[in-house]
Amino acid sequence: MNNRDHEGARHGGSLAVSCEKLGFSYPDSAHPALSGVSFEVRAGEYVGVVGPNGGGKSTLVRLLNGLLRPDQGHLLVSGRDPATEPIEVRKYVGVLFQNPESGLVAPFVEDDVAFGLENLGVPREKMRERVAGAMRAVGLAGYERREPHTLSGGEKQRVALAGLLAVEPEILVLDEPTSMLDAAGRREVLERLEALRGEKTILHVTHHLEELANADRILVLNGGELVADETPGRLLSDHDLLRENRLVPPVVARLALGLGLPPAQFRTPEELAGAILARTATRTR
Ligand SMILES: Nc1ncnc2c1ncn2[C@@H]1O[C@H](COP(=O)(O)OP(=O)(O)OP(=O)(O)O)[C@@H](O)[C@H]1O
Ligand SMILES: [Mg+2]
Repeated sequence: MNNRDHEGARHGGSLAVSCEKLGFSYPDSAHPALSGVSFEVRAGEYVGVVGPNGGGKSTLVRLLNGLLRPDQGHLLVSGRDPATEPIEVRKYVGVLFQNPESGLVAPFVEDDVAFGLENLGVPREKMRERVAGAMRAVGLAGYERREPHTLSGGEKQRVALAGLLAVEPEILVLDEPTSMLDAAGRREVLERLEALRGEKTILHVTHHLEELANADRILVLNGGELVADETPGRLLSDHDLLRENRLVPPVVARLALGLGLPPAQFRTPEELAGAILARTATRTR
């Protein structure tokens, strides 16, 4: 991308994120955590971010909200540079960090969930409604007066997520948002994200490709480099790319491939079972 495109994004273009040749090295580190990373995310896109441990995903997340400053390249979020305007950028981008404890600061759960809204100056009555709604959405009703440090890992992750959902920023960046959740909790969170599709821009970091079956695109970060920017369908069909990046396709996709069906077409075992039954019925007719 050239500088003029960057200017276009700054002046209200539809780019939520644009980065060009982004590079970052932690102090005293022999290998850059990110190098030469270029991609764009349009407003309203749902973009997955995957890759092996140490690939650079969380570093990218920290750069997006200005917690770290790039030492190479350019990055714009909602048309602004998070390194120089972090406060402004954080009005548009909400981040769920990989370690939920890092975001929990208030004495009681309800204050933590309300924290982002308070910063935005939302009126008290409206704030109470949004906090209650977000807590219900993550299954935390009744936890209002609990002290965050007394919660289990998954409960802490739910609190952090409720804080993000209460604000509903334009851009949601979620770093492994379901890593500590039970199976039903994971499904509820994924449904909630799905409901925000199109309305919000979503960057969803995960180790589980099945969570990204509906993503518009999936970015693969490995060794600090962006090695792929693909649709789920193309990524799931590229065995070499999957293997090189320690990615395992969902069971449904593997079954579909084994049956000679398109791997990204079926999102659930039930959908695939329906297709197999329909095929069998046609053959035996
Ligand atoms: N605070 C730090 N100081 C020094 N090096 C760091 C720091 N944080 C991360 N790194 C290094 O930077 C690289 C990228 O780490 P990062 O946390 O971005 O990876 P990741 O893709 O999020 O991995 P994971 O899947 O394990 O969460 C790794 O080599 C890691 O060891
Ligand atoms: Mg990480």
